[in-house]
Amino acid sequence: MSDPAAVLEELPDPVAVVAADGTVVTANERLRRLLRADPVGHPAEDALPLVDARGQDWWACARERRGDPALHARTPETPLWLATADGDRPVLATASHARAEGGVVLVLRPDRRRAHEAAQSDLVATVANELRGPVTTIRGVASQLQALGGEASPDRRRYLLSLIGTDGERIARLLDEVVDASRIDAGGLPLALEPVDVEAVLRDLVDRRGLDGVQRMRVDAEPDLPPALADPDRLDQALASLVDNALTHGAGTVTLGVRAAGRSDILVRVADEGPGIAPADRPRVFGKFVRGHEDPRRGSGLGLYVVRGIVEAHRGRIWVEEEPSSGGAVLCLTLPIAGDARGP
Ligand SMILES: Nc1ncnc2c1ncn2[C@@H]1O[C@H](COP(=O)(O)OP(=O)(O)OP(=O)(O)O)[C@@H](O)[C@H]1O
Ligand SMILES: [Mg+2]
Repeated sequence: MSDPAAVLEELPDPVAVVAADGTVVTANERLRRLLRADPVGHPAEDALPLVDARGQDWWACARERRGDPALHARTPETPLWLATADGDRPVLATASHARAEGGVVLVLRPDRRRAHEAAQSDLVATVANELRGPVTTIRGVASQLQALGGEASPDRRRYLLSLIGTDGERIARLLDEVVDASRIDAGGLPLALEPVDVEAVLRDLVDRRGLDGVQRMRVDAEPDLPPALADPDRLDQALASLVDNALTHGAGTVTLGVRAAGRSDILVRVADEGPGIAPADRPRVFGKFVRGHEDPRRGSGLGLYVVRGIVEAHRGRIWVEEEPSSGGAVLCLTLPIAGDARGP
């Protein structure tokens, strides 16, 4: 007879077997990945915390029903929430009585529809929260201007209007980022691909961003680079966001490097001489609404999420390194060379 643990590995869903004394005796890899932990050997109530939509502990309800003959058959698929190391996950749970062990076989199928709904409502809640600050400022300034009527000095008026302008910009930027982020989430960031001279895009960016003369920017390009296969507008958007990060969160000279990487890729590096990004934070910074806690120049924290979405839609990769001499942040990304056989 085949090994029951091996059979569980073949199943498409996360599964655990819970013995009569309440201990998890077997779990498959899918369940370990969902939990980001191994529940075997632990009490099921601790290792597999399940609550229903009203927040009631599912294990406690199951215990009460133990005498119920219905539990001896299969319970119908029940929508529950499973607490994992990565947060609460919506699952569709089915429990069947395991006669041999006198316990329960529990199948916890991830509920994609509810997960999508939860992500959307998280996005809505965060966006509403982000909008509150600038909207409050704009309303406050508008009522000050109204109260002052014709008495506001030209300087005061200019100052108040500049506050409205800045916060209006913030709102417009946030809305653009949210639209892009939700397109990325839905897996549909449309690209109009064509051969693009990446060095020219970088030089154009320096012309636009480097004009104030305060911060130094330079382009360091390998000669005779082949064009990348990219959407010029999206590439410009992604690189502009990295340059803005280098200018706001970094310091010193910002160097935009571009060279070939192997025969099929182009490597772009945006390096600055600021405090850099701590190794532990490097994988996190590409998450949604992630931003430095101590950073007073607060953006929405969607910038790098959108940049990664754009790079990955081009079948490129993006990662963080550290400038060895200054310790500053280096954001590296690859793009496919145009005409390459692998093209997207
Ligand atoms: N060049 C950099 N040097 C140091 N820290 C950086 C750099 N680039 C990004 N970070 C850190 O990563 C966080 C996330 O960056 P991201 O671009 O996603 O958000 P943001 O710049 O805060 O907001 P926005 O959505 O307006 O871009 C930043 O808040 C900052 O803490
Ligand atoms: Mg940013």
